[in-house]
Amino acid sequence: MKITVENHQLKVKEILEAANIIPVVAIKEAGDATDIAKSFLSCGVKNIEVLMRNDQAIEAIKNIADNVNDIHVGAGTVLSADQVEQVKKAGGQYVISPGFDIELHEACLKHDIPYIPGAVTASEIQNCYKLGYRYLKFFPAEAMGGVATIKAIGSVFKDIKFCATGGIKAHNVKEYLELNRIIAVGTSSMITDDIQTSKSWDAIERLSFV
Ligand code: 3PG
Repeated sequence: MKITVENHQLKVKEILEAANIIPVVAIKEAGDATDIAKSFLSCGVKNIEVLMRNDQAIEAIKNIADNVNDIHVGAGTVLSADQVEQVKKAGGQYVISPGFDIELHEACLKHDIPYIPGAVTASEIQNCYKLGYRYLKFFPAEAMGGVATIKAIGSVFKDIKFCATGGIKAHNVKEYLELNRIIAVGTSSMITDDIQTSKSWDAIERLSFV
């Protein structure tokens, strides 16, 4: 298939529609990544966003991509073109960034990996829209007005859908998922630091709200 933003967006649509609740996780030890991903999968979570916020992230993505079938693994908090290349090589399936960055846009096309840029304001959304993006990260969701903002902005951009993250937890996830402008939500609340430190992977299932 030709490498275009439009084709990448089709891939994003497919992934997010199939797996619309995304644990966003800064994995502390890459060696735990397989167990973490398998635990999510066993409670019905088919997507995981590994945050590029420590030196374990790339190896964690590789471990998941190599060892866990049936889960989509992407990279979040991607901030440089170099990271895009590393994510692709590790087997990551998509790249997410908090905002929009033209260098990431170009790198994702160059390395053939779908990109989900962040956009919240009307201008940011229009810039992404012009380049062909229809699936955007909405971050930080709660701080930017949450459901009310998404409804207001969604009434203007009829063919945009958001993956919302930032302040989404068990108590408010439903109100986001009910919006027709929402294709998916991400949350760090599905795995605590304690779980990672004590390696109590069974607790992931008990915490899970899906
Ligand atoms: C992200 O990178 O998407 C956010 O850090 C997730 O936000 P949360 O920690 O409030 O869930």
